[in-house]
Amino acid sequence: MYKILTLNNISVVGLERFPRDGYEVASDMSAPDAIILRSYKMHDMDIPGSVKAIGRAGAGTNNIPVQRMSEAGVPVFNAPGANANAVKELVVTGMLIAARNVCQAYDYVRALEGSDEEVEKQVEAGKKKYAGYELPGRTLGVIGLGAIGVKVANAAQALGMRVLGYDPSITVTNAWKLNAGVEQASSVDDLLARSDFITLHVPLIDATRDLINAERLRLVKKTTVLMNFARGGVVDEAAVEEALNAGKLASFVTDFPTNRLRCHDKVIALPHLGASTGEAEDNCAVMVADQVRDYLETGNVRNS
Ligand code: MLT
Repeated sequence: MYKILTLNNISVVGLERFPRDGYEVASDMSAPDAIILRSYKMHDMDIPGSVKAIGRAGAGTNNIPVQRMSEAGVPVFNAPGANANAVKELVVTGMLIAARNVCQAYDYVRALEGSDEEVEKQVEAGKKKYAGYELPGRTLGVIGLGAIGVKVANAAQALGMRVLGYDPSITVTNAWKLNAGVEQASSVDDLLARSDFITLHVPLIDATRDLINAERLRLVKKTTVLMNFARGGVVDEAAVEEALNAGKLASFVTDFPTNRLRCHDKVIALPHLGASTGEAEDNCAVMVADQVRDYLETGNVRNS
């Protein structure tokens, strides 16, 4: 009987196959055959030698010591694309709430004080103060055209936006990603200079750490909204703070709040909600559970 250790809450829809097949699902560390997790940081963990496979119920694997595991012959499975729809919907939400000043207007209305007449007057003033703009005709720059980036690009097109894409891995064979009306930017810098909204959909690896830094932020328009639903480390937050304070960047929407920026007036910070829908959690759990189970049963390595 195999034992599966879960390090985070994993959807039962994904885990239910294990007891059915005679596996044990546990949260104690004693001799698990496989680990399934979401965002638990495994780098400093003493990983039991009994572990034969790791399943990450999500796209990113930066919380797992993948190199160490592969040297030990332990495959790490993830769930590419399984939560792409959830992330796409939150990116679209991010653009809309930034363009329409929704967060600031919401705070404003809740803080109003006075009689009915006084509140009415302040509501009227808020209508003017928080007037926004519309998305059609604006340009969205998508950095990273994997499963999530492509979905985001298509959603933006459906909203009437122009889409610029940049992904160093676009080749002749996967150029279809750009055929659907996504214009290929010649470089990250080119994309930054021409976009009204910028969204990042790259993994956190050495090449993408601080991808958006002070030098690059100098290229963006002062009306641009920067969105990070990828990973905290791909944006240099000190540089973002400087750009926001200097009026060189309109706002920053981030799914990775830090103490530095979470309360900044021009920042909309969410608690890593991109993939947090019931549907996405089910899809990710099913995808990794299938892969882990297949591997334990047959030794087959597949990444769906
Ligand atoms: C991902 O990498 O897809 C997300 O971080 C998943 C999650 O929120 O657990």
